[in-house]
Amino acid sequence: MAQQPTWDAVDAYFSEQLVGHDPALEAASAAADAAGLPRIAVAPNQGKLLHLLALTSGARRILEVGTLGGYSAIWLARALPADGILITLEIDPKHAEVARGNLARAGLERLAEVRLGRAADTLAAMVEERVEPFDLVFIDADKPSNPEYFRRALQLTRPGSLIIVDNVVRGGAVAEADSTDPGVIGTRALHELVAAEPGVSATSVQTVGSKGYDGFMLARVQG
Ligand code: SAH
Ligand code: DHB
Ligand code: MG
Repeated sequence: MAQQPTWDAVDAYFSEQLVGHDPALEAASAAADAAGLPRIAVAPNQGKLLHLLALTSGARRILEVGTLGGYSAIWLARALPADGILITLEIDPKHAEVARGNLARAGLERLAEVRLGRAADTLAAMVEERVEPFDLVFIDADKPSNPEYFRRALQLTRPGSLIIVDNVVRGGAVAEADSTDPGVIGTRALHELVAAEPGVSATSVQTVGSKGYDGFMLARVQG
C-alpha cells in the first residue's frame, strides 16, 4: 500500500500542476518558518480546496478559528469579493503578528482581520454582538474545543452556510471509542453533536497527503 513518500510525491505533483508558483503564499510559509511557527498549515492543494469551496459558495463573510501564520486565511480571503470580510481568530500573539504581516504582503489587509484572544471568548463576543452571519466557517484550532467551536459556528451562520472542520481523522484515532487523547475525544464529541443536530447535513472525508493521514468534515447549515 502507498505510504507517506508516495503521498508527498503525489501532493507535490498536484500542487506543481494545479497551484503553481505563488509568491505571496511562498513568502507566507517562509515567514512562518523563520518565526519558528509549527509547520501545520494546510497543504497548498488543501488551501486551494478551501479557496474553491469559498468561491463556489459565493462567500462574502468568512470566519476562521485558528490562524497560525495566515496561510489558510490567504487562500480563503482571496475568494472574497471586494466588499467581503474574513475574520480569523488566534490565541498566540506571535502567530497573529506573523499572520498580519503575511496577509498585508498578500495585499489582503483590507479584507482580512486577525482577532487575538481565546477563540471561546472571541466567538462568544461575536454571538453577543449579533454580528451578521458568516457564509463559511473554517474550524482549525485546538481540537478538544471542536464541539464548542461548532456550536458557536451554528450561532454565527445562516441556512446555506458551510462549516469546514480540519483534522478530524488524525491517523485514524477518531475511530477509537476508548481513546483518552483529548483531541480525539473532542472530535468524536463533534461527530456526536452533528449527528444529533437535525439542522445540519454533514459528511467527513479521509485524506492522505503531505500532512499524512487525516481528513475534513463538511457541514451545511440547513434551511
Ligand atoms: N488554519 C491555519 C492553521 C492553524 S494551526 C492554516 O492552515 O494555515 C492552529 C492554530 O490555532 C494555532 O496558531 C494555535 O495557536 C491556534 N489556537 C490554539 N488554541 C486556540 C484557542 N483556544 N483560541 C484561538 N486559537 C487557538
Ligand atoms: C496539528 C494541527 C493542525 O491544525 C493540523 O492541520 C495538523 C496538526 C497539530 O496540532 O499537531
Ligand atoms: Mg489543521
